[in-house]
Formats: sequence, C-alpha cells, structure tokens
Amino acid sequence: MNSLTLPGLIDVHTHLRVPGGEHKEDFATGTAAALAGGVTMVLGMPNTTPPLSTPEALALAHAAARADARCDVGLFAGASPQAIGQLTAVAPHAVALKIYLNDTFGPLRVEDVPTLRACFRDWPRAKLIAMHAEKQSVAVGIGLAAAYARPVHFCHISRREEIELIADAKMRGLPVTCEVTPHHLFLDQSHAARLGPLGDMRPVLGTPDDVAALWEHLNDTVDCIATDHAPHTLAEKYSAAPPPGVAGLETSLVLMVTAVVQPRAPHQRLTLERLIELMHTNPRRLYNLPAQPETRVEVDLTPTTIRNVGMHSKCGWTPFDGMPVAGRVQRVILRGQVVYEDGQVLAERGAGRLIGDA
Ligand code: NCD
Ligand code: ZN
Ligand code: ZN
Repeated sequence: MNSLTLPGLIDVHTHLRVPGGEHKEDFATGTAAALAGGVTMVLGMPNTTPPLSTPEALALAHAAARADARCDVGLFAGASPQAIGQLTAVAPHAVALKIYLNDTFGPLRVEDVPTLRACFRDWPRAKLIAMHAEKQSVAVGIGLAAAYARPVHFCHISRREEIELIADAKMRGLPVTCEVTPHHLFLDQSHAARLGPLGDMRPVLGTPDDVAALWEHLNDTVDCIATDHAPHTLAEKYSAAPPPGVAGLETSLVLMVTAVVQPRAPHQRLTLERLIELMHTNPRRLYNLPAQPETRVEVDLTPTTIRNVGMHSKCGWTPFDGMPVAGRVQRVILRGQVVYEDGQVLAERGAGRLIGDA
C-alpha cells in the first residue's frame, strides 16, 4: 500500500477571516490551504469583523466567497444578544448557527438565557446549532438539546470530562454530536510549553489524560474531525496580546492518515473506514451538505515531515512544523477537475461553490 484514495474531505470548522481579518486569511488563501490538505468543502465560522450576525454581514462574506473560493464554502451565522432580532432573517442565508458560550477570539459571546432561548426557539429546526462550549458549558448545551428536543453539535471537544459527559448524553439518546481537532489529538500541555503563543488556542491544549480520552472515544463518541483552522499572523502571535488559534487545514489529513498507517502509539490507531466517516460521511450528514460528484483525494504514503515552508494559508506557520507524518496529499480532484497536484493549487478563484445561501 503506497497510496490511498479518499473522498473529498469536509471540514466543518474553519476561520476564513472575511470580512475584517483579511491580513490573516481570505477565501482565496483559506480554500487554497483546504485543497492542499485534501479538503474540498469547508464551513466558515462567523466571528469576523463585523460578525456574521446580520443579513448584511453575511451578504458581504458571501459575495467575497463567490468571487474568491477555490473549494466549496458554507458559512455559519453567529448568535449575538445585540442582533438576536435578526436571527430569522439571517437563517435562510447560513448553513448553521454558532453560539459561543465561552471566552475566545472575537466579540461573539452569549452569556444570557433569553438569547439562548431565542436561538433554540427561533432557529429553523432543519439547521444545526453548534456551540463553543467548554467544561460545564457542555452541560448547558446538553440541557438545551434535551429541553428543546433538537440537535446540538459541540465544537473542538478537548477534555476528558467533556467527552465523557457527551458519551453519557448519547447513551441516554440525546441528540448531541461533537468534533475533535487534530491539535487536541496530537499535542498536549508539554507542546504548549515549548510552542508558547504558537501552541495557544481555545480550548487550550490538554493533559496527556485528556488526549488519551479523546483517542479512547474516537471510535464511538466522536462524530467528526474538524480543524478549527484559526490563522493569525506571526506578528500577532508574538505581540503583547497574542490571539488564540492555530492553522489546521493543511495538516489535518496527513496527521490522521498517520494514525491509520503508522500509529505513534497503540491507542492512537484508526481504521481508514473510520477516518472517512470522521472526515467526510459524518460532517456531510450532520450539516446536511451537498454531494460533490467526481471528487477524490490521493495521498502518497511516503513518510515526510510537516514544514511551514510552502504552506498556502496566509499565516505561513503551523504548530506541527517539524512533525513526521506518514504521507502527503498528492492530488485532489473536484468535480472532475484536478484542483491540486504536487504542491500546486490549480483551482481558480471563484471555482468553489457557495453552499446554503437560499
Ligand atoms: C478561534 C479564532 O481564532 O477565531 N480561536 C481559537 O483559539 N480556537 C476562535 C474559536 O474557534 O474559538
Ligand atoms: Zn471555538
Ligand atoms: Zn474556531
């Protein structure tokens, strides 16, 4: 086995930074990074400037995505107490709703019950609600899923206590799902200490026991792998007030493939079938995303090392620089066209489709 062929991967958690953060990333560079990582469809998060909480802001981001995206893109709407009156007006234009319960990059935050109640009553039932929820906020999200009998998806679950709570809720039949990131699977606190600001993100890197819990639950409780691709410039990262977040689109598949073909530890093992469920089938089902016919990713299984040089993300750095992996993305085909080959992104700006704007 010296190569693998996979369906086009779907990353349901990326920050493409438009509008307002174009110096960190834009649709052209973010979707180039996606293709370089074997990802042919991305969902973009709403914590932009201004945030995607009004039809106007979403329309601005959609126009930019239509012009610039090289792979398919859908966008989240962001819940905000200030703009809660516009929730039903933004809903037709977004793939899903994002609620930030805890502190992280950007101004979006929901800390009051009336806003949560409005979200759960008024957001269309056909569209998912996703949450940035840490520690006991996960219990809040599970409670809301139960109270309103509607699905809640938990972003970037990173701690043993969180994944165990979600496992318990699933056992009870509650409609909850979750994603984990490659950085929470492959890095821990010891890396955070070495990486400094380049190893800082929300949620922060966990203890070795947290990391072990995520691997333990990868075959049952975890629904998808999502990168939380959150690029910030090196200058920002080395400033007095470094923003949390790390890039992930270009490294996610090669890291997960490493768990399939040369696991670094016996418990860090994954089957190829499970990888495809976590990175394609489940993301598509959860967010009700369209099929991409004649789309595939070819991975060359020659061991290599992740490097900052040659990255397509505008930020130009990864916390995995120097990490050995089992292969590299060789070729990506989207709707019958070769869109990436041997380090070169071949898709033009605007070749990607916008998803979910009614
Ligand atoms: C994200 C960002 O930079 O937008 N940062 C992060 O550390 N994960 C925000 C988020 O996903 O919480
Ligand atoms: Zn988050
Ligand atoms: Zn994020």
